[in-house]
Amino acid sequence: MTSVAAAIRAALLETDPRAKVFAARAVARDFASGALPFVFNVAMPDEPGRPARPELLPPGRMPKRGKFGSDRARIALWHALAHIEFVAIDLALDMAGRFGAEQGRAFVADFLGVAADEAMHFALLDRKLRTLGSHYGALPAHGGLWEAARNTAHDVAARLAVVPMVLEARGLDVTPPTLERARAAGDESGARILQRILDDEIRHVRLGATHFAAISSIRRESAENLWKSLVRAHFGGAIKPPFNDSARLAAGLSRDWYAGVA
Ligand SMILES: [Fe+2]
Ligand SMILES: [Fe+2]
Repeated sequence: MTSVAAAIRAALLETDPRAKVFAARAVARDFASGALPFVFNVAMPDEPGRPARPELLPPGRMPKRGKFGSDRARIALWHALAHIEFVAIDLALDMAGRFGAEQGRAFVADFLGVAADEAMHFALLDRKLRTLGSHYGALPAHGGLWEAARNTAHDVAARLAVVPMVLEARGLDVTPPTLERARAAGDESGARILQRILDDEIRHVRLGATHFAAISSIRRESAENLWKSLVRAHFGGAIKPPFNDSARLAAGLSRDWYAGVA
């Protein structure tokens, strides 16, 4: 690869899950070591590469998930989480590749690091599915997760406001109860995976919030007002409690902000 942009684009276009995991981790490592020059000579694709399976369904057509009772419900839960992490690899790659030229080296290094984390999260969850006799692709998955990228491709501030600061922050709210259910069901390995994901996601949200604050100050705007207006304009869903206030605070999100748009 002759440029970091070309390597990111190639990872985005990768359709095979294991190859995408490998490519995301390789581009992060190679950029960190200086093997990939900070050159942005190719555009990012509008849509990333996806494997033939899972079948992607509109959100309203996803089968309802049970709560950890049966093996089937467990597999459905881990599969849904694996899909979220798979799309998260592409969201982080696209953040670095689409906005890296304007935002600089530290921004690119940060979000390639996030992409490598997401690749690891996905790999852990796919391995978990295999221990349960399933695998990523065995069930249908939520087809709406790339929507946020499409809606915010024009502006790095909008992307940061919605992806790390709304979607990944939502993960901080929902992961601890899932972790508790795994632990209560005696699934220690599952609980450990979720703890690792939670710890990493706090860092991801904090990175997003930090870069967002820096961009707001360059634009001479109040970060709080800018965030609220971008979320209203570009995020179609609801921001709803219960919030994990302590994890959100650790990630640098202020309750005044998100409670204000909820
Ligand atoms: Fe993740
Ligand atoms: Fe993340």
